[in-house]
This record gives sequence, C-alpha cells and structure tokens, in this order.
Amino acid sequence: MSGKTLNGRKAVVTGGASGIGAACARELAARGAKVVVADVDEAGAAALADELGGTAWGVDLLDVDALAALSLDCDILVNNAGIQHIGPIEDFEPAAFRRILTLMLEAPFLLVRASLPHMYANGFGRIINVSSVHGIRASPFKSAYVSAKHGLEGLSKVTALEGGEHGVTSNCINPGYVRTPLVEKQIADQARVHGIPESEVLAKVMLTESAIKRLVEPEEVASLVGWLASDDAGMVTGASYTMDGGWSAR
Ligand SMILES: NC(=O)c1ccc[n+]([C@@H]2O[C@H](COP(=O)([O-])OP(=O)(O)OC[C@H]3O[C@@H](n4cnc5c(N)ncnc54)[C@H](O)[C@@H]3O)[C@@H](O)[C@H]2O)c1
Repeated sequence: MSGKTLNGRKAVVTGGASGIGAACARELAARGAKVVVADVDEAGAAALADELGGTAWGVDLLDVDALAALSLDCDILVNNAGIQHIGPIEDFEPAAFRRILTLMLEAPFLLVRASLPHMYANGFGRIINVSSVHGIRASPFKSAYVSAKHGLEGLSKVTALEGGEHGVTSNCINPGYVRTPLVEKQIADQARVHGIPESEVLAKVMLTESAIKRLVEPEEVASLVGWLASDDAGMVTGASYTMDGGWSAR
C-alpha cells in the first residue's frame, strides 16, 4: 500500500469474502476506497465489510437476470469471483461448463455493463479483471476455466477500447497458483488423482512450469490491483499483467 490514493473512490470486489478478493478488498480500503464486498457467502462478506468499514453485498452472480437489470455506482470494479471444475472434456458435465462460463464471463460482462454509465458520467473508472495464467495458456482438464478466462481477456480489451475516451481503463491480472482456499482444495484433489502426498503436489504437478517454485500470495495480487486502480495507472489499459513466477515465459 502506498498512501491514501483512492480517497473518495467506491470499489466493488466480487468474490470479496475469500482469498484474492478479500486481499483486494483490504488493499483498496487501505488506500482509502469505500469497499463493497460482493459475495454469495453473505456472512463472510459482512464480516470483512465490518472490518474494513465498507458494505456487504450478498449476491449470487449466477443470477444473470438480476444482474441484467442492475445499475452500479462504483468507480472501481474488480471482477474476481471464480470457481474451478476439473475433468476431461468427454466427461465434463455440460451444466458445470455453463456455470463457469456464466460466473466468470457473463457476470463480469453484466457488471461492467452496469458500471459504465456511472463511470462515463464521472470521466473516471477502473475495471480490473482477475484472470489467470489460464487466460493466456491452456492446461488439460480445465476446458471451462480456460475458456472463461480467455473470454474474459477479450471482454477486458473491448472494454478498454470503448472506455478510453471516457477515462475508463480495463485490465487483466494473470496470476499463477495463488495460496487460497480454491488452490488448497486442488492440492488435495491432485494428490489423490496422481497418487502422491500433498507435500509433493506443488513441485511435481502445479509448479513444473514456474521459474520460482512457490505459490503467489493473495497480497501480491492485491498490490497490483491497488496500483491499477490508482491515478498512476491512467495510461495502462487493455493490458494483461502476469504474476506467475515465470510460467508464461516459456
Ligand atoms: N487461487 C489461484 O491460484 C488463482 C490463480 C489465478 C486466478 N485465480 C482467480 O482468482 C479469483 C479468486 O480466486 P480465489 O483463489 O481467491 O478463490 P476463493 O475460492 O478463495 O474465493 C472465491 C470467492 O468467490 C465467491 N463466489 C463463488 N461463487 C459465487 C457466486 N455464484 N456469486 C458470488 N460469489 C461467488 C466465493 O464465495 C468466494 O468467496 C478467481 O477468478 C480465480 O479464477 C485464482
């Protein structure tokens, strides 16, 4: 954190009750923004909002009809909520594929759509999409996740092109594996699937492509979100920032 650079700004962070979203909410609040913690986990959102002097928004982002009717008066929108489902395409449940695309691509589109009128009216806006290294690289067994994140990259660039003349920037962040509940669960799953101890999953399965063999910390992602939200990043738009320990350098 560097100074109260976001005083007077209002930020909405989806999936803000846990992991990367919670770290982003803390970072934006520390920089002076009023933060809305948006999450289907209403109790988790309320607890963090209390801690930060912000507000909680209990919302199921799979309810796209409600999102289509929405108007949002925020200056900073962090599209972060996400889930994972792993399996080969021939066995991949169509409903699981649709759920991931809805939560991680359609909902961000609807939230951007709901936010832009307020941002355009103020001549300022920051859309920050928490993508993934899987927004720019593929892995087997993650057809829905990789498709959704690649789609989010496209949405972010179109938003950047439309928003430029209105003072609105749009960018993606592309982390490698981050130490969050979403990944802790994957470590257990991968250990089971590969028949190895959990302690070996990072080196043998998840971090094989990375030059730096450790997980990203949520606070490291949040610090980049804080900077992208600031005035200093006013000329940064349509970009995708990797934070993957060198995974995508190959
Ligand atoms: N953890 C990683 O390694 C990693 C790496 C790259 C990108 N990401 C991305 O970062 C984002 C956050 O991931 P995380 O690891 O912090 O996950 P997490 O599981 O810790 O948190 C996700 C949050 O999203 C919320 N959420 C889930 N479904 C929702 C719904 N229908 N409506 C509203 N909220 C909902 C959950 O309640 C939870 O609070 C995701 O988009 C993920 O794809 C994560």
